[in-house]
Amino acid sequence: MPIPDSFLQTLRDRADIETLVSSYVNLRRSGRILMGLCPFHGEKTPSFAVYPDSNSFYCFGCGAGGDAISFLMRIDHLDYVEAVKSLCERVGMQLPEDNYDDSLAKRRMRILSANREAARFFHAQLRTPEGREGLDYWLGRRLSPETIKHFGLGYAPPRWSALLDHLRGQGFALDELVEANLVSRSERDGRTSHYDRFRHRVMVPIIDLRGNVVAFGGRVLDDSKPKYINTSDTLVYKKGRDVFALNFAKNEGGGQLILAEGYMDVIALHQAGFLNAVACLGTALTKDQAQLLARYAKEVVLSYDADEAGQAATRKALAILEQTSLKLRVLSLSGGKDPDEILRAYGPERFRILLDGAANDLEFRLLGARGDLDLTTPAGKLDYLKEAARILANQGGKMEQDIYAARLGEELGVAKQAILAQIQYYGKQAARQRERDREQQLLRTAASPPSPDPQRILHRRAAKAEERLLSLLLGHPDFFPRIREKLTAADFVTPLNRRLAEVLFGRLAAGRGVEPELLSGELDEKELSEVMRLRNLSGPGGSLLAECEDCVRALLEENRGREVASVGILDDAEVFRRQFAHKKKALGNVPQPEDSKG
Ligand code: UTP
Ligand code: MN
Repeated sequence: MPIPDSFLQTLRDRADIETLVSSYVNLRRSGRILMGLCPFHGEKTPSFAVYPDSNSFYCFGCGAGGDAISFLMRIDHLDYVEAVKSLCERVGMQLPEDNYDDSLAKRRMRILSANREAARFFHAQLRTPEGREGLDYWLGRRLSPETIKHFGLGYAPPRWSALLDHLRGQGFALDELVEANLVSRSERDGRTSHYDRFRHRVMVPIIDLRGNVVAFGGRVLDDSKPKYINTSDTLVYKKGRDVFALNFAKNEGGGQLILAEGYMDVIALHQAGFLNAVACLGTALTKDQAQLLARYAKEVVLSYDADEAGQAATRKALAILEQTSLKLRVLSLSGGKDPDEILRAYGPERFRILLDGAANDLEFRLLGARGDLDLTTPAGKLDYLKEAARILANQGGKMEQDIYAARLGEELGVAKQAILAQIQYYGKQAARQRERDREQQLLRTAASPPSPDPQRILHRRAAKAEERLLSLLLGHPDFFPRIREKLTAADFVTPLNRRLAEVLFGRLAAGRGVEPELLSGELDEKELSEVMRLRNLSGPGGSLLAECEDCVRALLEENRGREVASVGILDDAEVFRRQFAHKKKALGNVPQPEDSKG
């Protein structure tokens, strides 16, 4: 049973989208709309718009759009019913009891409770004779009982069904445990067997921002391989999405987060009082994670391992983090291999000093350029200066360029003006390259269809008419009777538009509304985003009625043309000719037959 429109409308009126989005994004008012940095893609200048008047949002950068419910679905990774419930909780409304399709939500709940129970079990093992080995491991890594408790660390016994038996006893079904990735299933000789995924490992639970145990990392107690086994993707966990310890760190550190490489580093850092330490989980930093960090911090200090792999990972992470608005610094771990080791060898004070002295990303790159060059020789100096100038040209603002040029000049005995001139030279070179890249990009986009949908290329005029019609309907549902007289959804040529027409026509014919909050239950992310784009689409101006009629006519003509064409279905050569004609047009060439007909 769908949730009643009337309930959704009341929910919309109570749930103010500005308040909702503001708890995730910094918004600035600009007239009737609010702008901010899009939480769904990396950007430095705001293209994310919130429209309080229509309780909706749309990003002009990545095209994400929708209402309050779909905002929650995207940002908190919820399904539809979960998002409605979450919004209800925020405004103190109660979803009427009914059998809404929340089977997915129920399966998620089961996985989360199995995980929670598993975490309790692993932790409790530390106090059993069998688990002594695990406890000794943690204590041997200098973790205090408080730290072990705080992180809920544990131990998985070296048996095939320790956890399995325990959770079965708690009423969990085998299927649920397999789905939670706590138990593995194997088929051999036609026989199915089940066994614990984590055996004889110390266990680290991974907790999301809402306090749910979403996954585990299990480490061997010695040097054998693989060092860690982690939970694979499940309904509640996706690799590369969450950030370890962000649940603890999100409100610490006054806008600064320390990003380390390993679980152990983070745990050791927290024990030493650095409560703002986090780590990515078993992957290189992803865009999603960068986005998440940007939501909770202004500055990230990268604190990866000192080895070559760690430094390479640092460069990769910087490249991703630089797409966000975050300020970046890189800590140099001289005298140790990772934060855990520094803390053990030298104590927290030393780490604090390193932290305060962490270079900004520009300095990190300059240090990298220096590498092993011998700066006592003119050739070494020159190589370094050139590379440094290139970095400053690409990365630094005017002030940074001035400051670092002065510093480099002093250090190497070269006039600051000479260095600045070199920076300028590279700057111009880079600008020319960017211009060339942009032209290339333009040529490429011009040559490729505006959307990968082949129907849209073949029926460009119809697709435009469809979009205008849908856009009209969204803004002026009272046009529906006129359109319905002439057209059905089946007359729409391109699949996405036809799908939207089906939903809109269906709702309007039943006397229901087409506001975003009513559509988010029926449309998927991509469809809803397209609706938001269409709502914002402005027409050519002039009479809406005339425009509506033009569009209807264009579509009808297209359909008549289709009937004729389908008598002898377009052969490949014809398809190619039309595509090619389209490309030529996009590149600014002569008019073509398609435009002259109709
Ligand atoms: P590390 O090898 O640095 O692990 O890998 P660590 O946590 O610092 O452990 P210690 O101090 O050597 O005991 C960094 C991170 O990479 C992931 C884990 O998330 C680990 O914390 N990793 C590493 C895996 O997922 N699988 C592996 O086999 C190794
Ligand atoms: Mn490590």
